[in-house]
This record gives sequence, structure tokens and C-alpha cells, in this order.
Amino acid sequence: MSKLWGGRFTKQTNKLVEEYTASIQFDKELAEEDIEGSLAHVQMLSECGVITKNDKEEIKRGLNVVLEKIQSGEFEYDVSHEDIHMNIEKALIEEIGPVGGKLHTGRSRNDQVATDMHMYLVKKVKQFIAHIELVQEAILTQAEEHLETVLPGYTHLQRAQPVSFAHHILAYFWMFERDKERFQDSLKRSNMMPLGAGALAGTTFPIDRHRSAELLGFDSVYPNSMDAVSDRDFILEFLSNASMLMMHMSRLSEELVIWSSQEFQFIELDDSFCTGSSIMPQKKNPDVPELLRAKTGRVYGNLFSLLTVLKGLPLAYNKDMQEDKEGMFDTAKTLDGALQLLAPMIATMTVKKENMKQAVNEDYSNATDIADYLVNKGMTFRESHEMIGKIVLHCIQQNKYLLDLSLDEYKQFSTLFEEDVFEILKPYNVMNARKSYGGTSPEQIQNQLDLAKKHLKLVEKIT
Ligand code: ARG
Repeated sequence: MSKLWGGRFTKQTNKLVEEYTASIQFDKELAEEDIEGSLAHVQMLSECGVITKNDKEEIKRGLNVVLEKIQSGEFEYDVSHEDIHMNIEKALIEEIGPVGGKLHTGRSRNDQVATDMHMYLVKKVKQFIAHIELVQEAILTQAEEHLETVLPGYTHLQRAQPVSFAHHILAYFWMFERDKERFQDSLKRSNMMPLGAGALAGTTFPIDRHRSAELLGFDSVYPNSMDAVSDRDFILEFLSNASMLMMHMSRLSEELVIWSSQEFQFIELDDSFCTGSSIMPQKKNPDVPELLRAKTGRVYGNLFSLLTVLKGLPLAYNKDMQEDKEGMFDTAKTLDGALQLLAPMIATMTVKKENMKQAVNEDYSNATDIADYLVNKGMTFRESHEMIGKIVLHCIQQNKYLLDLSLDEYKQFSTLFEEDVFEILKPYNVMNARKSYGGTSPEQIQNQLDLAKKHLKLVEKIT
């Protein structure tokens, strides 16, 4: 069938060129947005007197027939019509005849494709915000159950100070809270409409862009037609926010992998979230967090790919911009998968608090607290740090922990030690003693939980 832009050409397009320049293979994902945009466009055109009411009705009827065919899977996409916009327009003209040719009045594919992508992303970002909340809710539930569960806190992956499991896992709540805020904030910029910018310079028809925006639910309209058709910042911002979210989910996944190892045994992922080995019958592998961790790479890649595509482009539209889509769809799909699995995986995991407790009983993560103890008895922190270092060394040489030493042994290091040192050294007390704002004492964590719950409600109101 002839091309919609065939008038100026005397030769057929080379088949390889057709394949190479087409985007229908992947932009068919935008079909529904494209039709929704067209329905609003014709409505506006008729309200502005650019096309008649009858033509508008006929075009709308035709577009709805095409939409049904797409939704039922009956629609035949044709690579010779290059992209979703021309596939739909061709199908419309076939359905209702030449009047369908009025649909493209006062617009170009350049503003059309940008509009479709804005619509797609606004819809997806709102879904992601809701899905992040499901992960946050799963975290809150585990935190509420494990306010008093003590485990080693690490720095440099070396035992540092005991913390509550609730405190550890809530750290991720706040990372996801920032991710959510970033997505929320990005809506201000992505919920802006390019439609009516034409190819680049606007249009000679008396259109009303604000009316189209109102019909499509956009908050605002691009004030500059050249910016409207060449801006892809909203996609970059999405890819960047997605990268950070993936990085957070990947860090959490890394902890889940470590914690489920035989060496740690701090948690056990539910059987329904693990897979086995084809050779070693004993294996239960944490494939989901491993894959999630790995898929972070493709999201970063998509961000870098688009940054690179755009960096040398002159205004306004360039065909290079067609390369913005696959990375965006791939990122959306990757986020969908990760977010949907993470929430139930966290909700169903078993926290092995006895193993965590045993771990803190067998380390020196209470050393800071005896250092603080001597400071409270009048020693300077530097002196006491030095002395506790020596006590730890003594313990290591004797194959003992700090709670195993007798008061006499302590007194050989300093006469400031009294019987009360043993209470201070108990891991629960060490955790409970950190009562500074944002610290790991259960009382502080309770405040943190209350604040976290308020945040969840707050975002419900603004989305
Ligand atoms: N498929 C194109 C894209 O995704 C649509 C815009 C084409 N515009 C053009 N002037 N060739 O970028």
C-alpha cells in the first residue's frame, strides 16, 4: 500500500530501509495513548471550527473501531507503514474513507509521538508510585514485628554495633520514600503537553492547545513548540529516577542474598520465591534478588544510551529520537517485575531472630559501649578507646568475648570498672542505649514507624 508521505517520491522504499527506519515493532505499545490523543485532537479541531462536527463524529467512530481491533489482537501491524501513528491513520482511512485524512490536520508525528510518550510515562509513573508503596508496606510490617530483634550492624561488612532488625530494614523504607518523592515530583514536568506544536514551529490552523490538554488531563502545555517536539528530559528523568530506585532495590537484594547464605542464616526466603539446582539436590537459590541485582545494569544502560543519543542533536526533531522508546519500555518492564516481586518476597521471608541474637553474642560489637562506659566514669574518649582496644585484643588471644571476662580481669585494666559493666554489655542494652533521634533504640524506632506511616498516608493524598 502507498505511503502516507509518498507524493514526493518516484521510487519505492528499499525493503531494508523500511525495516531499518520502522519503529512499529516496538512503538505499538503506544497504540492506546495514540488513539486517545487523536480522539482529543479531533474533538478540539471541531470545537475550533477546523473540521465539521460530522467529520469529527465519523473520525471518532473510525478510531474506536481501530482501537477495538487493536485490543482484540485482530489488528495487523504493517512495517511498511513505519510506526504506530501511520499504522493507525492508514487503518482509519481504510475504515472510514478519505475523511480519515482530516485527522492529521494541525499536527505532526513529531508532536504526536512526544504526546503519546508523555501520556504513557505519566500513567506508568503513577503505577510505580503505588507499587513502591506496596514494598514500603511490606517493610513496615516486618519492622513492626521485629522492633526488638537484635542483629549485628555492619560497617565495611565488619561487625560494628548491634542494631534492631526493624531499624535496619526501615533504612530501605526511607530510600524508597525518596524514590517515590522523585517520581512524584517528576510528574510536574512529564504531565506537560507537546500536542499542537506541529512539526516544530506551530500551526497555521486556529487550534486551542489548552483545550486538548484539558481533554487529555495534562496539567500544562509546552510554551515553546521547538522545545515541545525535541524535549526528552522527561524520559531521561524517568530513567534516572528508575536507576536510583533499582540501585536501592539491588542493595536490599544483596543483603537478602547474603543473609540467606549458610554463613549468615539471618533470614530464609519463602520456597515460592526460590529455585533449585539441576545437579545439587540440597540447593535453594535466591534467584529473584540475584536477578533483580543484575537487571539494575540494563536500567543504567538505558539511561546512558538515551543521554548519548541526545547529546549532539540540533533542534528540533531528529530521527535519532526514535531511539528513546525501547529503553523506556524496557525500563518500565524491568521496574514492574522488580517491584511486584519485592513486596511479597519481603512479606513472606522468615526472620531468624535466634540466629541474629547468637551472632551478636559472639562478637565484639559492644566494644564502643564499654568505651563510653569509661568516659562516663571520667576517662577521656581517646584514652578509653585505646584501653578497650587492648581489652579486645586480650579477649581475642584468650578466645573470649567481652561478656566472658570477670570483673577482676576488667579491674586489671582499670579500677574504674564496676559490676554494672556487665549489664551495659548485653547486646539488647547496647541497642537500647542508642536513644538519640534516629537511633536504634526501640523507643526511637517507634517514633520512626509513626512517621513512616504518616508518609504513606501523605502520598496517598497527593497522587
Ligand atoms: N516513529 C517516530 C519516532 O518515534 C515518530 C516521529 C516521526 N517523525 C518524523 N518526522 N519522521 O520518533
